[in-house]
Amino acid sequence: MGRIDIICSHLPAADVFADVGCDHGYCTQYMLHNGLCRTAYISDISAESLKKAETLLSREVKEGRCIPVVADGLQGIASCDLVLIAGMGGEEIVHILKEGYLPQKFVLQPMKNTEKVRRYLVEQGARITKDFTFEDGKFYDLIVGECAEEGDSYTDWEYKFGRDNLLSPSPAFLKWVKQEKGKLDSRLLAPAMKRESREELRQKRYELEVILDALEGDV
Ligand SMILES: C[S@@+](CC[C@H](N)C(=O)[O-])C[C@H]1O[C@@H](n2cnc3c(N)ncnc32)[C@H](O)[C@@H]1O
Repeated sequence: MGRIDIICSHLPAADVFADVGCDHGYCTQYMLHNGLCRTAYISDISAESLKKAETLLSREVKEGRCIPVVADGLQGIASCDLVLIAGMGGEEIVHILKEGYLPQKFVLQPMKNTEKVRRYLVEQGARITKDFTFEDGKFYDLIVGECAEEGDSYTDWEYKFGRDNLLSPSPAFLKWVKQEKGKLDSRLLAPAMKRESREELRQKRYELEVILDALEGDV
């Protein structure tokens, strides 16, 4: 399955869905065509990007089931009960949620700094129901969750690596760990490096080694 298919397969049903940074609009098309939401916002900071989704969903826009918005993050979306923010950096995702709001349900696919997203969600008292790495040419993280009465608690390692990756590791995660360890091995061969940087790389490498030792028997 490709990245978009994997994201779509984790989108729950909602009343009002918001696809923030929608670009092409494929995920909104999936929600509307499968009857998974009553109304969908397609939103992008770039009018040019939004145009692609508006063209794809022109019939639904005409029918009033799909509302296009040129906006920064959740500005312009007064309320929704499910937000998708995919294909942006983790810091940008946190910024969007801080400046806007955390809807009842969320599906987030950060391109980097996933740890910051996890920390923000847990700080907000949200519950993370899925948190894993998948592969589609590159490696991607996907976080699915909801605002619940009882929040979540994460260990430092779960913040760094993703809870499902540690509890029920996929072959993609195992491959990612091996690849990252290989990169660190090469970087550690460099002769000139600040003492602190070398220590930091060694610590990262140690963590990956511990994970590999624990996982290799399981997958
Ligand atoms: C790499 S594309 C990802 C598109 C789609 N969500 C996906 O996952 O395939 C990132 C999109 O987010 C938009 N974007 C970036 N920052 C944004 C922000 N603060 N608010 C809304 N859209 C933003 C960009 O214009 C671009 O269309």
